[in-house]
Amino acid sequence: MFKDIKLCEDRPYYLQIKDYVKELILKGVYIKDDKLPSTRELSLILDVSRNTVIEAYKYLEDEGFIKNIPNKGAFVSYNSIIYDEGFNVKWEDKITDYAILSDELDTYKHDIKWKKGMISFKSISPDDNLFDMDDFKKSFLNILSTEERKILNYGYARGYKPLIDYLLKYMENKGVNIKNKDILITNGFTEGFDITLSALTKRGDRVICENPTHNTSIKIMNLHGLYIDGVKLNEDGIDTNILKDKLAESKAKLVFLVPSYHNPTGIVMSPEKRIEVYNIIKEFNVPVIEDGFNEELRYSGSHIAPLSAFCGSGNGVIYIGSFSKILFPGLRIGWILADKELINYLESIKRSRNIHTSFLDQAVLYEYLRGGNFEKYINKVRKVYKERYEFIVYCIKKYIPYKKLYGEGGLHVFLELDGINSRDVLSEAFKKGVIFTPGDIFYTDGGGENALRIGFSRVDIKDIEKGIKILGDIIKNMRKGD
Ligand SMILES: Cc1ncc(COP(=O)(O)O)c(C=O)c1O
Repeated sequence: MFKDIKLCEDRPYYLQIKDYVKELILKGVYIKDDKLPSTRELSLILDVSRNTVIEAYKYLEDEGFIKNIPNKGAFVSYNSIIYDEGFNVKWEDKITDYAILSDELDTYKHDIKWKKGMISFKSISPDDNLFDMDDFKKSFLNILSTEERKILNYGYARGYKPLIDYLLKYMENKGVNIKNKDILITNGFTEGFDITLSALTKRGDRVICENPTHNTSIKIMNLHGLYIDGVKLNEDGIDTNILKDKLAESKAKLVFLVPSYHNPTGIVMSPEKRIEVYNIIKEFNVPVIEDGFNEELRYSGSHIAPLSAFCGSGNGVIYIGSFSKILFPGLRIGWILADKELINYLESIKRSRNIHTSFLDQAVLYEYLRGGNFEKYINKVRKVYKERYEFIVYCIKKYIPYKKLYGEGGLHVFLELDGINSRDVLSEAFKKGVIFTPGDIFYTDGGGENALRIGFSRVDIKDIEKGIKILGDIIKNMRKGD
């Protein structure tokens, strides 16, 4: 029976032998008190050294599966269990409405998937070819040598202190007054938003947001049972007349806004509009969650202060930031900057959910940021993404007959087509090896059927032209067929 072990090179032999024998015992091939082959015998069968088998048997004994009796051999000491096949639960009868809704809203699971060789305008993730791995590796090694073992132990719910201090300074440099404010480190924006909604809303509450808006945020708000009240966007950001009317209509719990490189439209709220919005929310005294999304990916024009900067020492704006698009999404690190009193509650929610965000990840990120690598990286990627942005706009204008094109930078643009359903375009495009995100998933009221979001961050110049031309041809053909 030992003849079927296939020993591979990427795990020590003694561990593979240990696992194999353990499996035989667990399956009942060997039962209690059975004698195992001697170490000499087994080493000959497997063509490994006798010491390798001795080591494997030592581990099996440590784990309580066998007993090595001097001068007699190795005997199974484990009492095998009798497996019963009869205990089956019908999960569809047990599953909660929450789980069913999560599944329904899981666009990732249900949407058309990328296949190798396709041109994907679906993603707005950073291009990992641009990650500077040497700087990251250095940061990793540096922090391990300074923090040593303690970085692998439990940390604090609020986050890694040096990273918190760095981010407080970072926010101050964006013009935000940090007096009486604090930071909670989260697993990206997604967790920050979820925790904040848990702290401030209950089922049935009304939240006002831009329409369209970030699909994951719509999903989270739906899962919290909130009534999502979308406000149309103009070219310079949310329509303030409608915002005012909606706030006057009835009490909203929160306003949620993505002022910079808004997802999906790419619109940047103008400085004048930020002041106007700030004055409106102040008048109605409704707190705002500001998603600081992609602020750093500015390719032209001057710095625009986040809404939270307008708040001065006031506490009405909760800022949620994330490194997902501007650095490494895989680290899952974001932050909430808010009033100290609120952060105190958010910290407890965070602790109850997952204790804290990985301290190792936070510490490596801090070390990377501390050394000035972030500024260097942002400088580099801005140039690359700017080139892709300008080129995709040029290609769209050249190849696609559209009604409106939005997007002032960031990692995506948004198109409105003239009477053509973007899902029909997607089905045709998929057959020709091109995919994008249909606009309807971003709408709070079922709109967006003629819209599409085109992400360009991970598509090179050659494929941008090829892919946009394919989309253009499909759309032109559809118009002919009208
Ligand atoms: C509007 C918006 N905010 C934030 C994020 C980042 O989310 P996270 O930090 O959870 O990756 C995204 C990612 O796509 C986004 O589109």
